[in-house]
Amino acid sequence: MRILTVIGARPQFVKAAVVTRELAGLPGVEERLLHTGQHYDDSMSARFFEELSLPAPAWNLGVGSGPHGVQTARMLEGIEAAISAWRPDRVLVHGDTNSTLAGALCAAKLHVPCAHVEAGLRSFNRRMPEEVNRVVADVLSDLLFCPTQAAVTNLAAEGRGHASGVRLVGDVMYDAVRVFGGGAARVPASAAAAVSAGRFALATCHRAGNTDDRAKLAGVLAGLGAVARRMPVVFPVHPRTLAAISRAGLAIPDGVAAIPPASYLETLSLLSRAALVLTDSGGLQKEAFFAGAPCVTLRDETEWVELVEAGWNRLAGTDPDAILRAAGEALGRAPPPRPDGLYGDGHAAARIARALVGGDP
Ligand code: UD1
Repeated sequence: MRILTVIGARPQFVKAAVVTRELAGLPGVEERLLHTGQHYDDSMSARFFEELSLPAPAWNLGVGSGPHGVQTARMLEGIEAAISAWRPDRVLVHGDTNSTLAGALCAAKLHVPCAHVEAGLRSFNRRMPEEVNRVVADVLSDLLFCPTQAAVTNLAAEGRGHASGVRLVGDVMYDAVRVFGGGAARVPASAAAAVSAGRFALATCHRAGNTDDRAKLAGVLAGLGAVARRMPVVFPVHPRTLAAISRAGLAIPDGVAAIPPASYLETLSLLSRAALVLTDSGGLQKEAFFAGAPCVTLRDETEWVELVEAGWNRLAGTDPDAILRAAGEALGRAPPPRPDGLYGDGHAAARIARALVGGDP
C-alpha cells in the first residue's frame, strides 16, 4: 500500500514524525513524504527533519512564500504531478495549513482517498485561513482522525460520524511529547540569560490575524511588555512577525528577549522551564498544558476549548490590559487539576497507522 503524506509547515513536521514512525513498522506499507516547501528556512524546516529523524522527502516542491492563491496554486501543480507519477493508494494530510488544503484538493480531484489528521477542529471564524483549510480538508477526506471529543462533536454537527470515517484517536502532538520529550533538552543559547534569571514567560505570535493588523500587533507587543515588568519574556520570533514588526514601525519592548525561531526540542525545553505561556499558536496551547504551564491565548477564540474549560488556558485577545490581567490570574493561583485523557493516551499515531491499512483503530 502506497501512502503519500503531504507536509509543508513546522507543526506538520512534528505531527508527521510520529505517524511516519508507526507506518515504517507496518509490512506492505510504503510511505513517501512530499514537502511543499511552504516553510524553507533551515530554522523552520531542515532542523525539524533532523531533530525528528524524518526521512528526506521524496519530493520538495520549493513553493516558498506568497499570497494564498499563488502559494496554493504552486502546491496543487506539484502535488498533482507527484500523485500522477507515483499513484498512491492514499493521501495523508495534517493540520490546517495551505499545504493541508492543497493535498486534500489534489487527492479528491485525482480520486485518491484522503485521510486528515487533526480533523474536526473549528474556531468558527472563517476569516482565519486555517479555518477554511480545515473545513475543506474535512469535507474532502474519508478518514477523519479527531484529536479530541470536541472535534468529534463538531463533525457530528456537520453530519459526519463513524459511518463517514470519523475516528477519535487522540492528539499526535501528545504522542510527539512522549516520543521526543525525554531527549537531552537544550535551551537556545540566545535565551540563556532570560532563562537563568529564574521564572520567565514564553511567548509566540505568528497568526496572520494578529501580525497583519497593526493595532493587534501593537496590542500584543504592549501586553508582552507589561508582562515583562513582572518576569522576563522569551519570545522566539516567526519570520512573518519579524517582518510585520519592522513594517509597522513597532519595537520589541524592554524585558522581552526576542530570539530566532526555536527548534522543536528547544521549544520543549523552554516549555518545561516556563512559568507561563502566551501564544496565538494552536499547538503551543496544548504543549503548555503537557508541560504543566498555564497559557494565555492571544486570540478571541480557540479550537482547543477543553483547556479553557479545565482552567489551563485563558482567552485574552490582543488588548494589553486583558493580556496582563489574564497573566496575573494564571500566575496568581495554584495549578488547576489535570483532567486525564483530554488528548488521548499518547498512542494516537499507532491508531492512525492501523486505520490507514484498513484495521480498527
Ligand atoms: C503557516 C500556516 C499556519 C501555521 C504556521 C506554522 C497557512 C495559511 N498558515 O503560517 O496555520 O500555524 O504555518 O508556523 O498555511 N517565512 C520565512 N521563512 C520560512 C517560512 C515563512 O521567512 O521558512 C516568512 C515569509 O515572509 C512568509 C511568512 O513567513 O511570507 C508567512 O509564511 P506562510 O507560509 O505564509 O505562513 P505562516 O505564517 O508560517
